[in-house]
Order: sequence, then C-alpha cells, then structure tokens
Amino acid sequence: MNILGIETSCDDTSSAVVKDGRYIITNIISSQIKIHKKYGGIVPELASRHHLENINLIIDEALRITKRIDAVSVTTGPGLIGSLLIGTTTAQAISKILNIPIVGINHIEGHIFANFLEKKNDKDNFNPPFISLIVSGGHTDLILVKNIGNYKIIGRTRDDAVGEVLDKIAKFLNLGYPGGPIIDRLSRNGNPKEINFPRAYLHDTWDFSFSGLKTAVINFLNHNSVYCEKKLPDLLASFQQSCIDVLIRKTILACNKFKIKKIALGGGVSANTKLRMDFSKICRIENIKLLIPKTILCTDNAAMIASAGYFKLKKCKRNEKIVPSANMELKSWGGL
Ligand code: KG4
Ligand code: ZN
Repeated sequence: MNILGIETSCDDTSSAVVKDGRYIITNIISSQIKIHKKYGGIVPELASRHHLENINLIIDEALRITKRIDAVSVTTGPGLIGSLLIGTTTAQAISKILNIPIVGINHIEGHIFANFLEKKNDKDNFNPPFISLIVSGGHTDLILVKNIGNYKIIGRTRDDAVGEVLDKIAKFLNLGYPGGPIIDRLSRNGNPKEINFPRAYLHDTWDFSFSGLKTAVINFLNHNSVYCEKKLPDLLASFQQSCIDVLIRKTILACNKFKIKKIALGGGVSANTKLRMDFSKICRIENIKLLIPKTILCTDNAAMIASAGYFKLKKCKRNEKIVPSANMELKSWGGL
C-alpha cells in the first residue's frame, strides 16, 4: 500500500511516498531556513506563503517515481495554523479528486513513527511498549506508547522546548538559525564539564523545564564575555550537556518506573550527535533497546506522516474529518 504523506506544520514543505508504512520511495523536503534566517526565527505568515508557493512542486517531485497512491496522510497539528491549512487543503483536494482515503496525523506521533521507517532487517524493533522522547523546536514530550496508536503523555516541558532553548541561546550569541545544529557542531571541540550549569530535574513529576537554564546561560555570558569568543566551544558544550543530562535521566527513570526496556527518540533535537552518543551509552549499560531515526528523519519530514497514516488507516478504515488545529493534543486511536 502506497501512502502519499504531506507535512507543512512549521517551516518545512514536505511530501513523501511510503510503501507499507516502512519503505521510503521518495521523501522530498523543502526547507525555508534561508527565508526565516534573517529574522532569527520563523515568521508564520511568510511560512504559509512559501508553503503555498512550493507545495505543488514538492508533491510532483514526491510522485516522480510512482504515481500509484492508495491514500493520503496529512499533518493536522500541532503547528502554525496557516501552514497546516495549506497542507490539509491540498491533501483533501487530492483525496477528493483521486477518490482515495485521507487520514489526519498528529505531528508528534509522526515523529514517533520515524522510528519505523527503513528498519529493513529488524522488523519487530518498533513493537510497543516503549517510552518515546520527542524533542524538537516546539516540543519536549515524554510519552508512554503502550501500543500502536495508544499514547499517554507522562511529561512535557512547562516552559521552553529544548530545541527552542538551543535556538534562543544561538540567537543571543549571533551564531545563526536554527541554533541546534550549529551548537551541535561548535560544541564538539568543547569541554562539557567546564561550566556546571543548573539541571532542572523537577522531582515528583516527569515534566521538564528549560527556561531557568536559558536565563542562567545568558547571565553567565553577561559576566564572562571570554566565553562568547575564545571559550565558546566550552560554553556551548556545557550548556548542551545540561540539556542532555536532564533528558536522559528522566527518560531512563520513566523506563524503570513503567518497567519498559525500550526507548524511541524523535524530533529535530534527536539528530544531536552528543545526545545520540550519550543515550546509546546509557542504554547499553541499562540493557534498554534504543531506537533513533536516521538524522534526516529526526527533523520534520512527510515520510513519518505517511508511516503513521498507514497504521491509522489500517486500524480506523474510514475517511475521517480533517480538522487542522494549532494546539492539537496527542490522542489515542489504537489498541489498548
Ligand atoms: O522536529 P523539528 O524539525 O521541528 C519541530 O517540530 O519543531 O525540530 C527543529 C528543532 C530546532 O530547534 C533545531 O535547532 C533542532 O530541532 N535541531 C537540533 C539539531 N538539528 C535540529 N538540535 C540539536 N542538534 C541538532 N543536530
Ligand atoms: Zn517536528
């Protein structure tokens, strides 16, 4: 079964064709980074306008290898409402004209399903239960995935998402946008133990908080300007490490508490080199199976939406009403 995926929740226009939820035939991603870079962040109206300009070209490109599609899967939220409307309207038109089913996917569950893509040899890898940590520019969610389509958010950020904090510190230092990959690269030559930034473990809850860390880093820089230049790698490595330590500790604690031996990462920040390394190390020690998507599948893409859509269609087998929503909650639709 070939599913056409469409993802326009933020600043990437993406379309993909995925066979049986797993095999990527095409996965076209058009980034708007160049457009938003000069503003140091995403400008919602510009994002929608560029989605509208690009979407037909991107879908044409996604259908280059095969035009045989059996259903359309589209991101319905959370995200920027103007951007979501471009993707959902286009998907509805395709579904209507070709008379094929359409399914709406929550962006967060898309990130979870990125772990199912292209795992050719290890078919059972993705089988729940597992704890999923979704870390991106808009989200830091700890999710108990009891079954395919059955989710319980056990923790989330109370203020900034971890990717947002990385982007904001990079912006403060004039390093460029988006900050996550820049900090990833520049921190490689730094000492993560140089500065002991605070780690907000927030006891008795699975929630996260990163805004205190952001303030601590800015205060530190205001009093130690040498770390803005010569010792920048040490500053960035220390800052990045305090984010990573909290993410890892809480995820491992959640595994122990819920007696789960599998973790699935997702979202743009899961492309981070040090985060991947540290998670791999601790999971080896704790004998926990770790799933991480390929780096290209960590950030926003339509293949993950097509994959989630394949499973949802198999389970729900109907044409659902497509209602885009900026603040959509992650709802269960599958096995208890
Ligand atoms: O999942 P994503 O593409 O979009 C959202 O759903 O938000 O994530 C984008 C976020 C940005 O904050 C970006 O800085 C961060 O992911 N990011 C990274 C890396 N690549 C992207 N953060 C740390 N290290 C990276 N290599
Ligand atoms: Zn995302």
